[in-house]
Amino acid sequence: MTENAQVKGSYWLQTAPGGAPRPPLDADRETDVVVIGAGIAGLSAAWELTRAGRRVAVLEAGRLAAGVTGHTSAKLTALHTLVYDKLRRTRGPEGARLYARSQSEAIEHAAGIVADLGIDCDWETRDAYTYVRDPGRADELRAEAAAAADAGLPASFVTETGLPFPVAGAVRVTDQAQFHPRKYLLALAEDLEAGGGQIFESTPVHGLDGGTPCRVSTGTGATVTARDVVVATHYPVFDRALLFARLSPRRELVVAGSIEADRDVDGMYITPEENTRSVRTAPLDDGRRLLIVTGEHFTPGTGDTRERFERLSAWAGEHFPGAGLTHAWATQDIDPSDTVPMVGPLHPGAQHTYVATGFGGWGLSGGIMAGRLLTALITGEECAWAGLYDPRRMRTAVREAPALLKAQAEVAGHFVGDRLRPAPPVDALPPGEGAVVKVDGDRLAVYRDEAGTLHALSPRCTHLGCLVAFNAAERAWECPCHGSRFDTDGKVIEGPATKPLERRDI
Ligand code: FES
Repeated sequence: MTENAQVKGSYWLQTAPGGAPRPPLDADRETDVVVIGAGIAGLSAAWELTRAGRRVAVLEAGRLAAGVTGHTSAKLTALHTLVYDKLRRTRGPEGARLYARSQSEAIEHAAGIVADLGIDCDWETRDAYTYVRDPGRADELRAEAAAAADAGLPASFVTETGLPFPVAGAVRVTDQAQFHPRKYLLALAEDLEAGGGQIFESTPVHGLDGGTPCRVSTGTGATVTARDVVVATHYPVFDRALLFARLSPRRELVVAGSIEADRDVDGMYITPEENTRSVRTAPLDDGRRLLIVTGEHFTPGTGDTRERFERLSAWAGEHFPGAGLTHAWATQDIDPSDTVPMVGPLHPGAQHTYVATGFGGWGLSGGIMAGRLLTALITGEECAWAGLYDPRRMRTAVREAPALLKAQAEVAGHFVGDRLRPAPPVDALPPGEGAVVKVDGDRLAVYRDEAGTLHALSPRCTHLGCLVAFNAAERAWECPCHGSRFDTDGKVIEGPATKPLERRDI
């Protein structure tokens, strides 16, 4: 990885920084709907509800569209690597059709919003491909292409692509889209405010009472009462139904750099091989294209992220020689145990509380779909795919069991095994590094900053107590159990944890 790449972070955030922060919630309020979380799912829901005539307040712990949504590869496609053959088997042909239709309609809906509002967000129509280079996997892609076509997508099996290397086969779905997610969402936020919606940044939520009315308490001390509440915080921060046990966090790296326009790959690509590789491009002001390569997924808090960045950069350099990588960032996805996102009532007894989570690596089409589905549920409209995405679904529990057991075994392994791991001495920590060390018999999460000052925290994740580990490339503490992330001062970057790591003296 180049030094520049380490410094620059997300291209989407750099090129659409947004204006001045919106003020935090400063006084108690009453409204129709509270949306917690201002990523694509939360903002889409808030925008749809405002258009449906509801008074909406959005509460965001940080800045809007600056979390996972500001770090994606920003593809809008109904082709989700390999899902349709599996869905056909697990949810039946009708389930696969509803999945395809719901995702495709979300993309068409977003295209309509872009046109209606005149949003300048680098929207481009592109074909989407899932490819393999191993001839032994070509039949798997033939089956996926057939299943996707049966589900109603314009899908086919092909062997020619715009990639600069041969493939053994690919599923192609035509007329999908790619865009700049921050430009889209910043415009959506402005439009929802023009329609009477309110957005409060730097407003973490601390409590949710799902009664009548619902009450949401916040870290600013102010409370909002509302008829309905949507929890759209990626991993749900309120989770009476223990959804976290059916979700697995996955971190993924992104590198980007410019290439000549005539080397554009003319499509959006992903392969499940090589620990995932995804390729797309975006337009640059100078007429060149920004090559965006994603891959090297891993469980947060495990392994060496710097080595992974090096591997991904090397892959990009091998296949796109001369692409000077200028950006590097990482994103986090949440995989549901049965492949299908969870969008609907927050728990079996919920009357007015809703959740949207588990989008895998496909949170943009999924988030737009979720905004429409949640709006239908809150306004009492019919939605053909409400049952497919209902988080209370139990009929798939037996099919989910192997994935669930595997995920829980991994969590248990971290909970116990990470406590038995030998801890390095604190003196061995170089500047810029962190580790869980032992001091006087106690384990501490210690980071040594560039000036040599030690920052000590409790290593116990405030979600359920697993031990965090240091990600040196991103300078963050990460929990391998459910993916909570904290900065070097212990502040929450990513849930499900809502409380900071406790400070310790050293
Ligand atoms: Fe669940 Fe850390 S995120 S224990």
